[in-house]
Amino acid sequence: MATGRGIVVAVAFALLGVGGRACAGPVDDLLQQFQAQGASHFTVAAGEALWERSVTDPKTGEVRRCALCHTTDLRKVGKHATTGKAIEPMAPSVNPKRLADKEKIEKWLERNCKWTLGRVCTPQEKGDALTMIGSR
Ligand code: HEC
Repeated sequence: MATGRGIVVAVAFALLGVGGRACAGPVDDLLQQFQAQGASHFTVAAGEALWERSVTDPKTGEVRRCALCHTTDLRKVGKHATTGKAIEPMAPSVNPKRLADKEKIEKWLERNCKWTLGRVCTPQEKGDALTMIGSR
């Protein structure tokens, strides 16, 4: 009996695995690209640390973080720190449009890293961020 249940669970995971990979295409591509650029293993924990890292903008004295616009809970609607406009949730689990378009991801990572950290993110940071966002 226990063995039978084990097989059912194994099959369910196999199906989920195939489905998950099909959806995560653009992210998988980018993660491979970042590793080719010298990044190593990506982790959710490092992505979380980056998300909450506070950096003081030297010009304005503002303290900036990714979570400032996107919130700490990625399943919630965010709010743009300068325009006040709502930003749809970042978590793909509640917003399937997220992490679906490679060009969009790259464009916004570039722009948001510059605004938040005052520089572009390294391939390692970008991979950790996408790994964390994808887990939400
Ligand atoms: C000043 C506000 C702001 C900050 C701070 C910010 N973002 Fe964003 N981010 C945006 C906006 C606006 C969009 C695009 C609007 C949309 O798609 O809803 C976006 C989109 C993104 C996307 C694209 C997601 C997709 O597939 O649709 C990623 C990835 C992202 N941000 C990551 C980050 C990371 C990582 C940080 C911190 C380094 C960060 N953001 C900080 C405003 C911000």
